[in-house]
Amino acid sequence: MSENINDHANDAGSETVSFGYENVSPEEKTRRVGEVFTSVAKKYDIMNDAMSIGMHRGWKDRFVKRVKPQPGESILDMAGGTGDIAFRMADRGANITVADINQDMLDVGAERAMERAESAETGSLVFTCQNAEEVSFASGSFDAYTIVFGIRNVTYKVKALAEAYRVLRPGGRFYCMEFSTTEWSGFKEVYDVYSDLLLPRMGQMIAGDADSYRYLVESIRKFPKMAEFENMIRAAGFTNTKVESILGGAVAIHSGWKI
Ligand SMILES: C[S@@+](CC[C@H](N)C(=O)[O-])C[C@H]1O[C@@H](n2cnc3c(N)ncnc32)[C@H](O)[C@@H]1O
Repeated sequence: MSENINDHANDAGSETVSFGYENVSPEEKTRRVGEVFTSVAKKYDIMNDAMSIGMHRGWKDRFVKRVKPQPGESILDMAGGTGDIAFRMADRGANITVADINQDMLDVGAERAMERAESAETGSLVFTCQNAEEVSFASGSFDAYTIVFGIRNVTYKVKALAEAYRVLRPGGRFYCMEFSTTEWSGFKEVYDVYSDLLLPRMGQMIAGDADSYRYLVESIRKFPKMAEFENMIRAAGFTNTKVESILGGAVAIHSGWKI
C-alpha cells in the first residue's frame, strides 16, 4: 500500500496521519499546519511569487476560467487564505465566501480586500474562519465550491470532500487545484532538486522560516496522485469528474458535479 493510500485510510480511524514525512496524531497535524500558516501568513503572497516565479498567477487565472463564476452566484472558496482565488471570482461578479481554518491568513485577505478597487459589477466577499472538515453552512447553500492548494493540508480529506458535496446545491460544481506529481522525466529531477534545496532556503530568506517550506514540499509528495485523488472525489459522490494537468502534473485541476 502506498503512503498516500495510508493517508486517507486515516479518515477511517487509524491513529496517525502524515505531517510532511512525520506521522503524528490528527490533532497534532491540525495544530502544526495552523502554525505553518500563521508563521508564513504575512509573507505568503510574496513567497508564492518567488517560489513559482510568478507562475501561480497564471495557474489561478486558468483555474478561475474553468470555474466560470457567474454574476450573482454564491461560491464557497474553502482554504481561501489571503484571497487570491476569491478576488478573481468576485471580479466576475460572483458572491464569494472565503473560508479558512487560519485567522491570520484570513486577516491578510481581509486587509487586501479593503485595498481592492471595487466596481458596480464586483461581487461581495465575506471572510469566515471554518474547518473544511466541518462546515457551518446549511446543505445546498452554494453554486460552486473551490479549494486551491488547500486540500493537501486538511487532516481528514474524505470528510472535507463529503462537506464540499453537502454544501453544494444539486447541479453545483466542485473545483480543486493542488500540487501533484509531475510525470515529465527530466523536469521531475530538476523540480525535486529545486524543492529540496532551493525552496527551504528561499523560505528562510524571505519568510524567515525554512521548516514551514520544507513541510509544504513534503506535503506535496505525500498527497495522492491525480488518478487516486479523482477516485476520492468520485467516492464523495461527484460525477463527471475530470483532471487537467499542468506541467506534466506538477499542478492539477480536478473538477466534478453534484447531480
Ligand atoms: C497554501 S494555502 C492556499 C491559500 C489560497 N487558496 C491560495 O491559493 O493562495 C493553504 C490554506 O489552507 C488552509 N487550511 C489548512 N487546513 C484547513 C482546513 N482544515 N480547513 C480550512 N482551511 C484549511 C490554511 O490555513 C491555508 O490558508
